[in-house]
Amino acid sequence: MKKNIILIGFMGVGKGVSARALSKQYDLFIIDTDDLIESKENRKIKRIFEEDGEPYFRALEQETADWIEDHVEGTLISCGGGFYKVDNLSALGKVVLLEASFEWIYNRIVNSENAEKKLIKRPLFGNYEEAKKLYDKREKQYRSVADVVVNVEDKSLDKIVKEIAKKTKLR
Ligand code: S3P
Repeated sequence: MKKNIILIGFMGVGKGVSARALSKQYDLFIIDTDDLIESKENRKIKRIFEEDGEPYFRALEQETADWIEDHVEGTLISCGGGFYKVDNLSALGKVVLLEASFEWIYNRIVNSENAEKKLIKRPLFGNYEEAKKLYDKREKQYRSVADVVVNVEDKSLDKIVKEIAKKTKLR
């Protein structure tokens, strides 16, 4: 199996911030699947959804997964919330699900300093009801593809990092 760590989980659960903390502590490089897609396409996710629709974006995620499988090793990979659906996820590395209740995630986003920006850039987090529906639909699917699960709700970053490191046997 590849020695990448693949962070998956719902929008706003804190994949990016956890990846950065883990990277700092364990001296790992991070790549973010949304960033890879945005730079390849030279436009923001929001625009990709508006101009070409969700299926086009999902095909880009699969292309990204194929590239990671062929070229990336020993790296921390922070994934967009829907990336878990690519057909080769388990071949990419150890899959770590960051998990929290929908209420906690929602409050984390709306209480953040740049809440508006965080909501605008996420086309699938249009409003509470829609996002909750998506969360409910995905909850079990996330668990079914995860090698390990880390509950992040109300935990300090330090604790989250330690738990991920322990469960992925990082040293
Ligand atoms: C999506 C999550 C987003 C981004 C896109 C679709 C999803 O990433 O990939 O808007 O389907 O859950 P984040 O989880 O980083 O917000």
